[in-house]
Amino acid sequence: MTGKKKEASLQTSATNQEQWEEILGKKGLTVVDVYQQWCGPCRAVISLLRKINNELGDELLHLATAEADSIDALEKYRGKCEPTFLFYGGGELVAVLRGANGPLLQKIIVEQLAKEKSVLEHGVDRKVVVDNDLAQAVKIDVQGAHRLEEAEIPARKSYTVAIIKPDAVAHGKANEILTKVQDAGFKILAQEERTLTEAQAREFYRHKEAEEYFQDLVQFTSSGPSRILILSHLEDTSDVVQAWLGFIGPANIEEAKREKPESLRAQYGTRTLFNAVHGSEDVDGASRELAFFFPDFGKANGTTRDAEEKPVERTLALIRPDVARENREEILTQITNSGFQVSLQRDMTLTEEQVRKFYVHRAEEDDFPTLLQTMTRGPVLALALTREDAVQQWKNMLGPPDIKKAKEEQPECIRARFSMEGDPVNQIHGSQSTEEASKEISFFFPVQQTLAVIKPDAVDQHRDGILEEIRNKGFSIKRMEEKLLSKKMAEEFYKEHRERPFFNQLVEFMCGGPSVIMVLEKENAAEEWRATMGPADPERAKAEHPESLRARFGSDLLHNSVHGSLNQEHAREEIRFLFGEPAELTDTLGSVRYTTGLFFFCG
Ligand code: CDP
Ligand code: MG
Repeated sequence: MTGKKKEASLQTSATNQEQWEEILGKKGLTVVDVYQQWCGPCRAVISLLRKINNELGDELLHLATAEADSIDALEKYRGKCEPTFLFYGGGELVAVLRGANGPLLQKIIVEQLAKEKSVLEHGVDRKVVVDNDLAQAVKIDVQGAHRLEEAEIPARKSYTVAIIKPDAVAHGKANEILTKVQDAGFKILAQEERTLTEAQAREFYRHKEAEEYFQDLVQFTSSGPSRILILSHLEDTSDVVQAWLGFIGPANIEEAKREKPESLRAQYGTRTLFNAVHGSEDVDGASRELAFFFPDFGKANGTTRDAEEKPVERTLALIRPDVARENREEILTQITNSGFQVSLQRDMTLTEEQVRKFYVHRAEEDDFPTLLQTMTRGPVLALALTREDAVQQWKNMLGPPDIKKAKEEQPECIRARFSMEGDPVNQIHGSQSTEEASKEISFFFPVQQTLAVIKPDAVDQHRDGILEEIRNKGFSIKRMEEKLLSKKMAEEFYKEHRERPFFNQLVEFMCGGPSVIMVLEKENAAEEWRATMGPADPERAKAEHPESLRARFGSDLLHNSVHGSLNQEHAREEIRFLFGEPAELTDTLGSVRYTTGLFFFCG
C-alpha cells in the first residue's frame, strides 16, 4: 500500500479501485475519508479518530482514506474540497458527513457502529442511504442535526413525532433508545438534535397552559438538547401514533412501571415530569408537531425553496429596549412563525462603552448620540436566529433602516410595525453579512467551557439535585465522569492553596471518596457556574443566595458540595488536568465551536 506512513496504522489507505473494493469488503462499519489528491486526507480529525478508535477498540470499526482522483467508484466526489466522510456497513453506504465536524463525526460513528451490529447480530435490515445529491444527502444544520432521509411528506396516520427529552439525552441514553425504537420496527424518517427556547417550549405545550406543572414543564423542556424524531412504522398498516404511544407507555412513571414495565418511560423515566420520551397524542397532534419542528419537511414550494438551497446560517437580531419591553412576545412569535429558530436569547443592559464597541463603525455618524440613548434605555433583547439564508431572510423581514421609508414602502415589515413614537431610530437590528453575524453573535454570546465538580460529600445524596440545576440553568454537560482523586491529584488540583491552613484537610476530603467531574458549556460558563454554586461558605450562601447550590447542598466551608473554575484560564487548565486533552475537538477543528448542544459554525 502506498498510503502516507503516518496514517497507515490508523486508516487503511485506498488509492486504486482494487484497494477500494478490499476496504468495502470488510465486515463491520468502515469510515472513509474521501479526499482529493492535491489536498490529501483531512488532518483535522486524525487525533479524534485515533481517540475514538482507542476508546471503542472495536474490531468491527475500520477507518480508511480513499483518494477520489484515482478510484473510479468515487468519480462524483472528485474536485470537492470539503472534507467528506462516507460510512459503509457491509459495503453499503449508510451515512455521509460533509465538513470536519468532529462531534458529529464521533456521533455518527457510534450510532452507525451500533446499527451495523444490530444488522450483524440480530438480522435487522440495514438502512442504506443514497448520496445522490451531493450537497443535500446529509444536511447538517447549525444544531448539528443530521437528517437521515429527506422523504416526501407522509400521509396522515403514517407518521408521528417523538421526542427523546432532555433528561434522557443528558443521561446519555439517546442512542440506546434509538436502537430500541428501530428494533421495535419504527422507522426514523428524520431526526434532529435541538435545544428548545423557553418561548418554543411554551408554544409547543400551549394546550397544557392551564396545568399547574406548566412552568416546570416549560423549564425542563428547554433545559437542554432533545432529539426530535419523525417516525413511521415499517408495517404501514398500523396507526403509528397509537403504536408509539403504546411503546412509550403511560406518562405517569409509577403507572408505567406497574403496568408496562417494558415501556420506554418505565425504563428511562425517573418521574412524571422527567419521563424521558414524548409522542404526539393523536393524528392532529402529529401534524401540528410535524409543522412545528420540521416546517419544511417534504415541502418544495416557491419562496422557501430558494432559501433552502442556501446554507443554514445564523444572524443576530437585536430588539432595542423600548420595543423589547412593549412588543417582545409579538416579535418572537413572528420570528418563529417565519421559519427562524431562536437558538440563543439574552436580555442585556448595555453600557455606553459596550454600545460604542458594538457600533464602532457608526460612532462617527450624526445620529449616533440618539442611537446610543435608545440602546441604553433598558435591556436589549439579543437573539441568534437560525435558518437557511438567515442573514438575508431577516433583513427582508426587517425592511428599510429608515422608519419613514419603511412605513411608506413596506408597511408590513417589522421595522414599520414596531417603531416608537418620537424616536427616529429603528427599533430592530439585523446583521448585514454572515461575517458580521458571527462577530455580533459572539459579542453577545461568547461561548465558554468550565470545570464543575460534585465533591465527595454531595455525590451520593445530591448528585441528582445538582444535575437538575445544571440543566435548568441551561448548561450542557460535555463530559462527565465519576472519579476517585488520588492524594497527588488532589494536591495538584488545589496547589494554589498549598500554604493555607486548610490545605491538608481539603486534600484528605477530596480524595476520601469519588467526585463527579464535568465539563460544562454555556455562554459565559465560568462566571455563570460560579454564580450557580454561590459563595464557598454555605452559611454565607444561605444568607446571600439561598437558591445557590452551596446554600442548598453544602454543609460547611470544607464540605461545600461543588467546585467550579475561577475563570476561563483556570477552566482550561483544570479541564486539561482532569480530562487529559479536553479541548481537542474545539482546538483541532478551529471552525467548530459547540454550546448547549448546538453546533456553531463560526465563519
Ligand atoms: O471553591 P472556591 O473556589 O469557591 O473556594 P477557594 O477559596 O478556592 O477554596 C477551595 C475550597 O477549599 C473551598 O471550596 C472549600 O471547600 C475549602 N476551604 C476551606 O475548607 N476552608 C477555607 N477557609 C477556605 C476554603
Ligand atoms: Mg478556587
